Amino acid sequence: MASTGTTAAAVPEVTLRSGNGKPMPMVGMGTASFPVVHEAVRDAVLAAIEVGFRHFDTAFLYGTEKPLGDAVAEALRRGLLRSREELFVTSKLWCSQTHADLVLPSLRETLENLQMEYVDLYLIHWPVCLRPAGGPPKFPNRKEDAVPLDVAGVWRAMEECQRLGLARAIGVSNFTTRHLDKVLAIAAVPPAVNQVELNPAWQQRTLRAYCADRGVHVAAYSPLGGQNWDGRGNAVLDSEVLAEIARARGKTVAQVALRWIHEQGVTCIVKSYNRERLKQNLEIFDWELTDDDRLKISHIPQRKVVEASGLFSQEGEFTSVDPAELNIVEE
Ligand code: A2P
Repeated sequence: MASTGTTAAAVPEVTLRSGNGKPMPMVGMGTASFPVVHEAVRDAVLAAIEVGFRHFDTAFLYGTEKPLGDAVAEALRRGLLRSREELFVTSKLWCSQTHADLVLPSLRETLENLQMEYVDLYLIHWPVCLRPAGGPPKFPNRKEDAVPLDVAGVWRAMEECQRLGLARAIGVSNFTTRHLDKVLAIAAVPPAVNQVELNPAWQQRTLRAYCADRGVHVAAYSPLGGQNWDGRGNAVLDSEVLAEIARARGKTVAQVALRWIHEQGVTCIVKSYNRERLKQNLEIFDWELTDDDRLKISHIPQRKVVEASGLFSQEGEFTSVDPAELNIVEE
């Protein structure tokens, strides 16, 4: 899995082992933000295209597929892009859609939202299955609505999406090594990507080693510690260790975090709706951390923010859900 070139903004790209499509730029713009303000997302994506982003990450859950699609259509009208082919677009199958017979119709709905013929990468958002529900995704969910996930059936339907050319590559998100074992055991097309929470304060060493051995490329969400999802502040942007390195290198804390992730061979999915910060987040490729920086970062205390239990309402009988215990049908 080597870097194979650069885009106009000199963002290194990675060739996905089991993808049919173009290489993936190793920094993408995240669009998870709540509440979703259509114009704000659309304008931020347009600004991102202007400053050089060519990789965009969305999901059925986020409600940002439509504004992303509108922004791309507008960028094409304005001549900021020559063709949609210049972009790498990822979306994700939501948990109420992880039923073998719902995968293809769900991707078709996503493509309609995006006004696109195909996505470059389609991911199973979580190794979780909820009872099917029409309309917009619900969040949080009732634990009682969790049902066994038919990994083999869902993955075969994902493979069919790729075979039909509607998803150029397919992969997973929030999968542990145990979940990946189950997919790899039955896959004709192995997952190209596993997108997980990953940053200097949640380094995922075991999962990275596992994925490297099996040719699954790792992408990082919440590369800057997330948007205070758990109300405990930000272990990355508030890190004194990273601040000290940033001062010494003449960079921002965000750039140090993104640079460290890049040096691990991991793709960063970083959300910003601010033009200056978007620009800053691409300026990480013409300098390096030192061995001493890397050593200091390796000692940062580890803290995970996003848990599968967060998908579920904390009210009622079930107050926590262990992702490893969520129902997965054994082969
Ligand atoms: P904003 O959109 O106002 O720039 P995540 O880790 O999920 O990607 O979240 C990133 C959070 O950090 C967002 O709330 C984003 O807010 C903020 N952010 C993004 N880029 C930078 C940056 N370069 N410096 C500081 N904060 C940033």
